Amino acid sequence: MVFANLTLTGRDYLPSSSVTSPNQQILPITAQINSQDHLTIGGCDVIELVERFGSPLYILDEATLRLACSQYRDSFLRYYPGESQVIYASKAWSSLAICSLVASEGLGFDVVSGGELYTTLIALEGMGLKEKADQLIYFHGNNKSSAELLSALDCNCTIIVDNWWELKTLVELADKPVKIMLRLTPGIECHTHEYIRTGSLDSKFGFNPSEFEDLFKQVRAHKNLKCVGLHAHIGSQIFERQPHQDLAGVLVAALEQANKQGLTIEVLNLGGGLGIRYTESDDPPSIIEWVKAISTALVSACSQAGIPLPKLITEPGRSLIATACVTAYTVGSSKEIPGLRTYIAVDGGMSDNPRPITYQALYRVVLANKMSENARFKVTIAGKHCESGDILIKDALLPKTTPGDILVVPATGAYNSSMSSNYNRLPRPAAVLVNQGEVNLITQRETYADLVKQDILPERLIHPTKQ
Ligand code: LLP
Repeated sequence: MVFANLTLTGRDYLPSSSVTSPNQQILPITAQINSQDHLTIGGCDVIELVERFGSPLYILDEATLRLACSQYRDSFLRYYPGESQVIYASKAWSSLAICSLVASEGLGFDVVSGGELYTTLIALEGMGLKEKADQLIYFHGNNKSSAELLSALDCNCTIIVDNWWELKTLVELADKPVKIMLRLTPGIECHTHEYIRTGSLDSKFGFNPSEFEDLFKQVRAHKNLKCVGLHAHIGSQIFERQPHQDLAGVLVAALEQANKQGLTIEVLNLGGGLGIRYTESDDPPSIIEWVKAISTALVSACSQAGIPLPKLITEPGRSLIATACVTAYTVGSSKEIPGLRTYIAVDGGMSDNPRPITYQALYRVVLANKMSENARFKVTIAGKHCESGDILIKDALLPKTTPGDILVVPATGAYNSSMSSNYNRLPRPAAVLVNQGEVNLITQRETYADLVKQDILPERLIHPTKQ
């Protein structure tokens, strides 16, 4: 299908100089077009990156990630008069390079598994920060194993207790005082996909309000449990400010209740959830606006209650890292069904980006080697998996596309690599970090040998005993 009148080009997705919040841009903040009409990110030509590192390729822009980190950190210093800490929800994308970079910006970490904890600890160790793990790491999760709890106890990080079973297990395991926070289910609705909504009462996470009284009583009774704070997370990819403002009030009320029952709660964690712009119709508040709204709401809830300001923790994931990364693919086959649809297939798909098939998530796309050509063709970008639903983008607008073109999907830094799989035995992509013309490989591309590395071929299958 041809749209002769449209003048959309890849240029239209370049960052606008009037917008400074990374989560309000579609491409990374350093995205530009060079004299060959190629997309460049962090001063590196995307086409050259693919020639050197292959595709699919995650390209992570250091400047965008650092800017988001510093905007969060500095805005809390500016708008929240009490103590504050921003921790990175490492489920968005956890790797040694990413954790090191985030730590170097002074952020802490939300980890939800032994694997995320391990990755973070190795990164901190590499930076000589391992002894600060107790102040930097917060361990979440609704079904932590005993082994995971023991690793948490070992590094003295704060454990966010999610449920009664965990409380009981922790009391049995802890042979010394352990710093905990309690995850509460605040009963707050927000408008996002139901799979990523966590604050309503019908949620698998946290303690419900009817349990608070008993919970605070039991926590107080255990001498090894040092309960310093309360936590809640209401969901992800949220554009409204009101739910987090309401959450501040709900948590202040819970803090008052807990302290009346004899606890000493001095920390509130309001979770993450700020949305980002995947397409032009997404309109999230800027990082600064979000921080200001939360800070103001908490200050006013505390002053109404007549209590001192708690330490305020927030744990963004998506809004820190999503916009910093793009995925580059190579175009291969196509299929035109006259009058119906043209499919263009790329060399990745639901294994490197499961978000479209899981949440019907929408993305935009540019041709990195034809950035100024008019996007006159409506095409559907298909992945290469043996599954009809493996469609990355339905009805995308692109210039005329030929095999070998490099197609770039923006805003893939959050919940892409971290949710990737080997479906159909595709090796997982490499990731590179780009900055001011310099490129570093931060995740190696998997090989076919990697795919069989964990497989075991029992001897009896090689030499079956003759009957
Ligand atoms: N804190 C807690 C306790 C969380 O469960 C999450 C996300 C965050 C913080 C970070 O939220 P963010 O700032 O990234 O919105 N896979 C889904 C998103 C799942 C979010 C899970 N929890 C997606 O691709 O949209």
